[in-house]
Amino acid sequence: MGYLCNAVALLLYFGFAAGRKCEFENRCQCFFNTWKQVHKAVCSNAHLTHIPDFPKSIKVVILDNNLITTIPDYHFRNNSKLCNISLMNNKLKVLRKESFYGAYNLIELTLYNNDIKIVDEKFFNSIAALKYLNIKKNNIDWLKLNITFPYSLQTLQMDFKILEQDHMFDSFKGLINLKTLDISGLSGECECKTMTPETFRTIPNLIHLDMSACKISYIYRGTLKFMSNLTFLDASFNFCLKFAGAENITYDLQTTSIKILKLNKIHRTFEPDTTVLKSHIRNLRHTNLTELHMDSNRIQLFEKGALSSLPLTLRSVYLSDNMFHFGSYFSEFHVVPITFINISLQFSSHDLLDFYDEICVKKDQTDPLPVLSKTPNQHEVQRYGQLKPNTLPIEISSKLQKLIFRNSLFRFKIEANNVSENSLAYLDLGFNLFYSWIGPLLTYKKLIYLDLSNNFCSNVSKDFFKSSPNLKSLLIHNNLLGFVLIDDMHGEILQHIPKLEVLNLADNRIPYLQYNFFKFQTMLKEINIGGNLLDDLSFQISHIQNLSHLDLSKNRFSSLNSTARGQLETVIKSNPNLTVNLSDNPLICSCDTIQFIKWMSQTKIEFTKLQSYKCKLYNGNTELLKEPKRVYEILEKKCSSYTALIVVLSIFVIFFVLILLCGLVYRHRWTLRFMYYMTKNKYQNSSRKKADNEEYEYDAFISYEEEDAVFVHNHLLSNLEEDAKLKLCIHKRDFQPGKDIAANITFGIHNSRYVVAVLSKTYLESYWCLFEYNMARMESIYSRDCENMFILVSLVDLSSLNLPLCVLEKVHKQSYIEYPNDPLGNTLFWDKLKEVLK
Ligand SMILES: *[C@@H]1O[C@H](CO)[C@@H](O)[C@H](O)[C@H]1NC(C)=O
Ligand SMILES: *[C@@H]1O[C@H](CO)[C@@H](O)[C@H](O)[C@H]1NC(C)=O
Ligand SMILES: *[C@@H]1O[C@H](CO)[C@@H](O)[C@H](O)[C@H]1NC(C)=O
Ligand SMILES: *[C@@H]1O[C@H](CO)[C@@H](O)[C@H](O)[C@H]1NC(C)=O
Ligand SMILES: *[C@@H]1O[C@H](CO)[C@@H](O)[C@H](O)[C@H]1NC(C)=O
Ligand SMILES: *[C@@H]1O[C@H](CO)[C@@H](O)[C@H](O)[C@H]1NC(C)=O
Ligand SMILES: *[C@@H]1O[C@H](CO)[C@@H](O)[C@H](O)[C@H]1NC(C)=O
Ligand SMILES: *[C@@H]1O[C@H](CO)[C@@H](O)[C@H](O)[C@H]1NC(C)=O
Ligand SMILES: *[C@@H]1O[C@H](CO)[C@@H](O)[C@H](O)[C@H]1NC(C)=O
Ligand SMILES: *[C@@H]1O[C@H](CO)[C@@H](O)[C@H](O)[C@H]1NC(C)=O
Ligand SMILES: *[C@@H]1O[C@H](CO)[C@@H](O)[C@H](O)[C@H]1NC(C)=O
Ligand SMILES: *[C@@H]1O[C@H](CO)[C@@H](O)[C@H](O)[C@H]1NC(C)=O
Repeated sequence: MGYLCNAVALLLYFGFAAGRKCEFENRCQCFFNTWKQVHKAVCSNAHLTHIPDFPKSIKVVILDNNLITTIPDYHFRNNSKLCNISLMNNKLKVLRKESFYGAYNLIELTLYNNDIKIVDEKFFNSIAALKYLNIKKNNIDWLKLNITFPYSLQTLQMDFKILEQDHMFDSFKGLINLKTLDISGLSGECECKTMTPETFRTIPNLIHLDMSACKISYIYRGTLKFMSNLTFLDASFNFCLKFAGAENITYDLQTTSIKILKLNKIHRTFEPDTTVLKSHIRNLRHTNLTELHMDSNRIQLFEKGALSSLPLTLRSVYLSDNMFHFGSYFSEFHVVPITFINISLQFSSHDLLDFYDEICVKKDQTDPLPVLSKTPNQHEVQRYGQLKPNTLPIEISSKLQKLIFRNSLFRFKIEANNVSENSLAYLDLGFNLFYSWIGPLLTYKKLIYLDLSNNFCSNVSKDFFKSSPNLKSLLIHNNLLGFVLIDDMHGEILQHIPKLEVLNLADNRIPYLQYNFFKFQTMLKEINIGGNLLDDLSFQISHIQNLSHLDLSKNRFSSLNSTARGQLETVIKSNPNLTVNLSDNPLICSCDTIQFIKWMSQTKIEFTKLQSYKCKLYNGNTELLKEPKRVYEILEKKCSSYTALIVVLSIFVIFFVLILLCGLVYRHRWTLRFMYYMTKNKYQNSSRKKADNEEYEYDAFISYEEEDAVFVHNHLLSNLEEDAKLKLCIHKRDFQPGKDIAANITFGIHNSRYVVAVLSKTYLESYWCLFEYNMARMESIYSRDCENMFILVSLVDLSSLNLPLCVLEKVHKQSYIEYPNDPLGNTLFWDKLKEVLK
């Protein structure tokens, strides 16, 4: 029949995995065999109150988590093929003789967690082929029932309560084929204060016995003795048993085939400290035990000779959650070729509430109360804190391969400690307080896996890994190594472990890694450097050909620059499996990073968790980056118009600047010209020096329009030059021939004390007159400290002239003389002019 059920499982595997709604009950999922017949119905969590009528072909029925209260008599009379039915978590109350009538091929029956109180004495008669029965978590008083289980039963999971100590329990009668008995109180109810040789008398063929959490206080010798095929025994969580009681177990086990023995927590949490005596475990010497569990026993000591009395077949020892005083007795492990030790969680704190839950009813023993005024934490720290050693507490025996020493909050520097020749390959020291790794770790030549994570370490020396050259996995996440790693210019910290394949540096507050940090690690496959403060892929990875996973999540990357992208592309060329995790980084999607987004959309690199990537857009919005291509297209549009905008803007700016420049030049045109001619003159006329005694060569420069030449030549020259002996500069006469006019003008003005401008109607319209006027103005400003050197002579009424503003301003500020053009007035005019010019 087993074959039949296995065949069902196989069929399910080959392509019939997807179910369909059943015809007979649409709340069920049906699965079909090759002849399109229903062979499995899954009706879990369907709020069913009644069992549906199943077709003849059905083999497996799952009715878990429903509200079924009864199984109607003969309900399964047509289901002779049924081999597996599960009614877990329902409300069944009664099991009658006819309940499974007809299902006579039933092999596996699960009735876990119902309300069954009544079981008919002949209930199992109709399902005599049953091999697996789980009937835990019901209210059946097996002692009061006279039930015969089916002869074929191999696995039985049941509640087990024997309250009256002397009662002979013989319900296991006839279970000669029973191989596995699970009466564990962890998954059901178990209470059996005393176990005697009678308890399991009728089931001597057990291979696997789980009697954990059964509130056992006594177990007499002989209880297990006859189970010659027993290989697995779990007697954990019988915290009233203690090692003294366990001694009777180990005594019995001598005659069994025991391989795995679990004695976890057979002491109460706050019991006075435990010593494991030689006598407690000595008898195991004669067994072939390979695995021994003694977690959570508050063990402080092993008696001398106890550990060395363990059998030579022992390979794995679990001693977590104890309180060892590490001492020389641990070296006894040398004697036993143990390959695995788990000694985590030493000195861990416990909930005080445990104390009240654990009450042992032994009359002969008075248990002292723990000190309740203190919290257990303080209690423990005060008592044991100082007892913690300051070197690795276990001596590494030559056969030991795997040592787990996690979570014990041991606090010291790891300094050089020389261990003898060893085979240690796996060392887990996570969750301690090894705050400084100075080393070197002498010598762990075979070490392949080292976990030093969660140690608050901020210091690792360059020699630390010196003597563990074969390391392949190094887990040092969640420390404070960023402080040291940042200065490692030449990859010296990791230089001795070139075979490294997996490196976890996550959560180390690393702000930056030097370019050569991974210089020697060419064989790396996985680098996890997430949860740090990196914003730059500053370190070299392009030489790591086999890199297949790079975790950069939870850093501060806003993008990867072209150098970084180039490195990744180099890696993927040699290893097409490369995946990169960039999740939880403040990525930015802007015109500056558009090349990065473009690369993301094109590269063959697989981004882990791409679904969750977000980036900040140019407008401050957050955009999902799960389709980088789409984001790239958006950006491309935005950025091309952006470029156009920039071009137009810069044209405008240039234009504006030009105009401004022109304006400035125009505004200062006279200054500029003046400067120009002045410099020019300076060089050209350096030979023509002024006489030393004379400040100026001329007394006045006469600026006039050709039309007024008559006035100048006839009146002005005679009056000023001949009468008053003044030296005037007249362009017709005094300008140097061959020199350009402008230069002549500036030269003349510069060498004259005064400039006399003869204003007339045409004066202001003449280019040269205006030039002279302005040059004179400049001369007065730049060469003569704004000294008044202007004399305006107007031949006509000034108000009749349409003077430009700049001239008008001068007119108002400075003296001007109007030529009266009548004899009397003229004499006055000339006198005045002479006086001014003298
Ligand atoms: C019977 O059903 C239970 C519950 O689904 C399952 O765990 C078990 O493997 C099944 N056994 C067989 C032989 O199909
Ligand atoms: C069983 O089969 C008989 C006929 O073979 C049919 O009358 C009856 O209804 C069936 N019962 C169930 C529960 O399917
Ligand atoms: C228990 O059942 C068996 C047969 O199933 C019967 O012979 C025996 O007398 C019963 N014992 C009691 C105490 O009812
Ligand atoms: C132990 O198992 C072997 C083979 O599995 C079997 O032959 C032997 O009878 C069993 N011993 C007992 C005492 O049942
Ligand atoms: C161990 O077995 C002996 C003899 O069977 C018994 O007297 C003693 O009470 C047992 N000890 C415990 C702790 O069960
Ligand atoms: C332990 O194993 C050896 C060899 O496999 C065997 O000869 C011996 O009988 C076994 N001892 C026990 C107690 O099972
Ligand atoms: C070591 O023991 C601890 C505590 O019992 C447990 O959590 C952990 O899984 C064990 N590790 C191994 C590898 O067995
Ligand atoms: C470590 O011990 C070995 C022998 O056990 C010895 O040869 C070696 O020199 C020691 N190394 C150091 C650094 O003490
Ligand atoms: C850090 O390690 C160096 C050796 O690399 C050592 O000299 C120094 O004392 C250590 N610092 C601390 C605080 O342990
Ligand atoms: C990369 O992996 C391949 C195949 O696993 C191996 O042959 C090669 O030596 C590795 N390269 C490096 C540098 O470790
Ligand atoms: C990318 O960043 C690295 C690290 O800061 C820098 O060395 C490199 O010059 C940058 N590349 C470019 C193209 O800016
Ligand atoms: C890439 O992955 C595939 C399947 O996961 C594997 O067969 C192949 O060896 C890997 N290639 C490299 C270079 O690691």
